[in-house]
Amino acid sequence: MSDVRVKFNLTNGEDGQDEDIFNPPAPLLAGAHCSGLQNYHDLYRTSINDADGFWRNVASDLHFEQGTSKGLEYNFDAKAGPVYCKFMDGAKTNISYNCLERNIKRGLGDKIAYIFEGNEPSDVSTWTYKELHAQVVQFSAVLRAHGVQRGDVVALYLPMIPELAVAMLACARIGAMHSVVFAGFSAESLAARVVDARCRVVVTADGVFRGAKPIGLKSIADAAVALAAQEDVKVEAVIMVEHLKRVTKPDGVELPKADYTEITFVYETEMQKCSGIDSPVEWMDAESPLFLLYTSGSTGKPKGIQHTTAGYMTYAYATTKYTFDAKDDDVYWCTADCGWITGHSYLLYGPLMNGLKGIWYEGVPTYPTPSRMWDAVDKYGVTKLYTSPTAARALMALGNKWLESTSRQSLKVIGTVGEPINPAAWMWLYKKVGLSNVSIVDTYWQTETGGHMITCLPGATPMKPGAAAMPFFGASPVLLDAEGRVIEGPGEGSLCFDRAWPGMMRGIYGDEQRFVKTYFAPFNGYYFTGDGARRDEDGYLWITGRVDDLMNVSGHLLSTAEIESALVAHEKVAEAAVVAAPHDIKGSFPYAFVTLNVGEKINEKLVAELKKMVREKIGALAVPDVIQEAPGLPKTRSGKVTRRILRKIAEGSESGIGDTTTLVDESVIKQLISGRSARA
Ligand code: PRX
Repeated sequence: MSDVRVKFNLTNGEDGQDEDIFNPPAPLLAGAHCSGLQNYHDLYRTSINDADGFWRNVASDLHFEQGTSKGLEYNFDAKAGPVYCKFMDGAKTNISYNCLERNIKRGLGDKIAYIFEGNEPSDVSTWTYKELHAQVVQFSAVLRAHGVQRGDVVALYLPMIPELAVAMLACARIGAMHSVVFAGFSAESLAARVVDARCRVVVTADGVFRGAKPIGLKSIADAAVALAAQEDVKVEAVIMVEHLKRVTKPDGVELPKADYTEITFVYETEMQKCSGIDSPVEWMDAESPLFLLYTSGSTGKPKGIQHTTAGYMTYAYATTKYTFDAKDDDVYWCTADCGWITGHSYLLYGPLMNGLKGIWYEGVPTYPTPSRMWDAVDKYGVTKLYTSPTAARALMALGNKWLESTSRQSLKVIGTVGEPINPAAWMWLYKKVGLSNVSIVDTYWQTETGGHMITCLPGATPMKPGAAAMPFFGASPVLLDAEGRVIEGPGEGSLCFDRAWPGMMRGIYGDEQRFVKTYFAPFNGYYFTGDGARRDEDGYLWITGRVDDLMNVSGHLLSTAEIESALVAHEKVAEAAVVAAPHDIKGSFPYAFVTLNVGEKINEKLVAELKKMVREKIGALAVPDVIQEAPGLPKTRSGKVTRRILRKIAEGSESGIGDTTTLVDESVIKQLISGRSARA
């Protein structure tokens, strides 16, 4: 169990140094769901000492069609028996019902569930809880009409349009698992996910604008369907939203064309066909699968992270309630895309279960101007804003003049997620955006954890810029050293959790062994996050970053192995090694070293081809910013590439390379360093 004693003096320092501590603003303390540090400690203690009692109490806010006396049951000790976690086994519920009918029954039917703000500021629509419910019932009937049943997996390859919310909730309503695939992924990535889960139905859109740039999603989806067919997975229906037809188009842009193939069904027409049909809720067992969401894996093949019903639901509900101090009069805006877990837990499920009025934004933070986010904050009176350090750094770099025309007085809480936040970006959010009148919650968690694991609570935790701070209720972090010994008190080690929490993943779709091997084998008896962390003398936790072969680019996890295999697929490349190099805005970027076949030389054309290869195989976000030719790669005698050295070269900090005597060919390093200098 973690030690979270806090014994510092509050200084409310000025310059964002590690030592600076900021108190939550007084108005946030008053009436907070968790008010004051003592209240946090008391609740935390209960959540650990009486986990079942604590979670039963949280779950009592939600609707269960059938109850149970069971609480949290688990085993993390792979040597003692199968690893598992169950929550409220025997109960029956439905998360979509809890998002919609439950709120309508408690009088929120006419409350706005979402303000859908399109790519163009003029494209706005608002949907009440009742209106959203009606659409969800109707689309669940469409899915049923296409033969989708409980337990099936439906791929959702959609931009951030209202139909994505509808489709996710409709799947959950009928017990089908949604597998949302980020609309920036390539046809090959989509195909791999469709094949892995044998999806028969794909929901997509004709296209979307990202800023002024049109993207033809339907043609990517069609290409993915063709690729899946080569693997004997036959998609029977592609349901397509005609989004481009209804949006305001930026001037002078040619629209992408969508093919109406034999298996294409137009969303709007299908909805009309199912109008008025009763499509009842499926009552799901507590441990029935709810959704799959693929995340990068060290071996290169993405992992289909599987979440189940009652535990994920209760955890998403509780974390939204406490981390954002969710209140009835909030205007809540999470800027994440539903292609990632943040969109699942904190744009869709968590806020809806809490009955919040949310903003669902289709576009990018800088279009049409870098004031867009702040304009929207003022326009809607946003009280709680959840965004990423990358967005903060990008906007900060564009200058404060973009803030000046807006007031942002409504903001009370600003959350960040996905990557460590540097103190300068933290201070900018706190002082410049939040006018020193907000709480900043730096939320540490993962696709696998379902919800927040380490975070400040806005009315309780004194904040240190850059520290994720304290465990959420029920989360029990431990730091382990290389020998697997628990580090007590201040120190740095591998971040693990020594007990289950309701929202944790229940497996990797179709690969039980990989589940145990990735998360439970590295330290027997513990869930291993893949991250390192440091605990300071006040018990605050600081995430130091990935300790495995994954890299975090703009808050998105990428697998070095997956990028490497995309590069070596080029006929001129013999070998490739990709490492993370530091980047002012993105946090880090992929830096690729490629060894070419004999007689080949790197040139602009080849670099462009290699970048295209990565874009096609994975997606634009994985394209290396730098591709350097490597006459050879530094390897140990057993043939392992020493990434530690490559990372130092990519960073330009040769002095930190350290001992190289175990390498087969030390001279390679000099060549790589001079190759880097030649590029710089
Ligand atoms: O490395 C950690 C980083 O993002 C990883 C999880 O990525 P993903 O599953 O895509 O989920 C992202 C959204 C939850 C973690 O293993 N990470 C996430 N939040 C933070 C973070 N690193 C530092 N500080 C955070 N607040």
